[in-house]
Amino acid sequence: MAEYQKYHEALRNYFTKDSIFTLEGIIGHGEYGLASKVSYKNPVSGEYRKFIVKQTYRNEDLDTLAAERHWLQQLAHAPHIVSMVSIPNNPLITPPERGTPPNEGASSGNRRQNRDPPIEQRTILLEWIAHGELGDFLKRAARHPKPIPNRLLWRFFGCFLRMVVAMAYPPSPPPAGQATQSEEITYDANGQVATPSMLRHTDMHDGNILLSDPPSDVEHDFAPMLKLIDFGLAEDTLPNILESPDPNPQFGVHCNMFDAGILMCCLILKYEWSRYPGHGDLLSTIEIPGSGPPPVKTYAQPLYALQFQSDPCPNVDPDIKRLVSICMAVKPTDRPKIEVVLGQVMDYIQKRDAAYYNNAAEEKDDYIRNLWTTALFNPPSPASSEDSNQTWG
Ligand SMILES: Nc1ncnc2c1ncn2[C@@H]1O[C@H](COP(=O)(O)OP(=O)(O)O)[C@@H](O)[C@H]1O
Ligand SMILES: [Mg+2]
Repeated sequence: MAEYQKYHEALRNYFTKDSIFTLEGIIGHGEYGLASKVSYKNPVSGEYRKFIVKQTYRNEDLDTLAAERHWLQQLAHAPHIVSMVSIPNNPLITPPERGTPPNEGASSGNRRQNRDPPIEQRTILLEWIAHGELGDFLKRAARHPKPIPNRLLWRFFGCFLRMVVAMAYPPSPPPAGQATQSEEITYDANGQVATPSMLRHTDMHDGNILLSDPPSDVEHDFAPMLKLIDFGLAEDTLPNILESPDPNPQFGVHCNMFDAGILMCCLILKYEWSRYPGHGDLLSTIEIPGSGPPPVKTYAQPLYALQFQSDPCPNVDPDIKRLVSICMAVKPTDRPKIEVVLGQVMDYIQKRDAAYYNNAAEEKDDYIRNLWTTALFNPPSPASSEDSNQTWG
C-alpha cells in the first residue's frame, strides 16, 4: 500500500462506522497533499453533504499546509476559490477533554502515526468540488474533432480573471443576510483602483483548477464554474531579484494573469497543460499582429501560425486571441490592467450570444451545457478520426 493510502485509511479512526460520517475514496493526491472524500448526514436537516479532507503525509510539508490554510482564510469569500468548510462535531479536532498528548495522533497502535503531529495540524477541510480537474476535461475535449466553443472559452476566461481579481483584492464577507458576490476590483476613497495584493498562486496548472456546478447567473449559467485549489505554493513576497525600493505593484496580478493566459492557450489549442510547448524560459515569443507601435511581444506564440503554417486556431474569436495574447505579453508592463481586461471579458460574455457567432449550433446555450455535462458523465471513448459525436464522452 502506498504511503498516501495509509494516511487515507488512518482517517477511519476518526470517521468511524458508528458516526454520521462515511469515509469514501481518495479523490486525488499531488506533490504534498492527499484529498479524501467524506460524506455525512446532517443530524438536524437530514441532508447528505460531502467534503474533502486534505492532509499532508510528510511532516516536512506541515508548513506548506499551514500556508495553504492561511491563504484560504484570506480568500474565504471568493466564489472562484475553493472554500474551507466547518462541519458539526468535527472528529478531526481533538477535544481537549480526551487529554491526547500534543504530539500523539488519535490513531493509536501505529508507532509512526504516534510521532505525527495532531491530526488537525495535518488536515484542512474543503468544500467538495464535484466535477473534476480541468486537465481531465481537456483530455476529453482533445478527443473531440471540434474546437471548444467560443462562448465556453469566454466563460472560462471570465472565471480565470475572477481568480486573478480574488487574489489581488481578497473579498470581504458579504453584509449579513446577503449572498456571496463575485470577486470585484477594490477602489480607494478617491475612486482610484486600489493597490492590489502581491499574492501569486504560482501553481495554476490544469490539475489545480476544478469544475463546479454553475450558479444561475449571466456569467456562468450554461457553463461550469471554475475554482482554483491548492495554495500550498502561493506567496506574496517578492522574489529576491525583484526586490527594489519601488517594486512593480502589479507584479502579483501580472504573474497570475500570465498563468491564466497559459491555461486559456491550452483550452484554445486543446493541449493539456503539461503538453503546452515550453514553460518559463522555453516559451517562444511573437509580435502580436496589429499591435503597437511599438509592437507588443507575447509568449502566446502557439496561437499564431509560423511561416508556411496554417492558423492553429482558425475558429477562435480574434478578440479572445488578442486578449489572451496581451495577458501573456513578454513585458509585464504591456499586460492589460486587470480592471480593463475583466470589464472587456464580462462585456463579451454578455453580448456575444449565439447570433453573434452566426447561430452556429455549437455556440448555442443548450449545446454547450450538453457538451460539458456529457464530457463529465460519460467515460472516455478511444479517439477516432471518424468520430462525429457532438459530445466529449
Ligand atoms: N476540494 C476539492 N474537491 C474535489 N477534488 C479535490 C479538492 N481538492 C483537491 N482535490 C483533488 O485532489 C488533487 C490533489 O489536491 P491538491 O490540493 O492539488 O494537492 P497537492 O498539493 O498535493 O497537489 C487535486 O488535483 C484534485 O484532483
Ligand atoms: Mg495540486
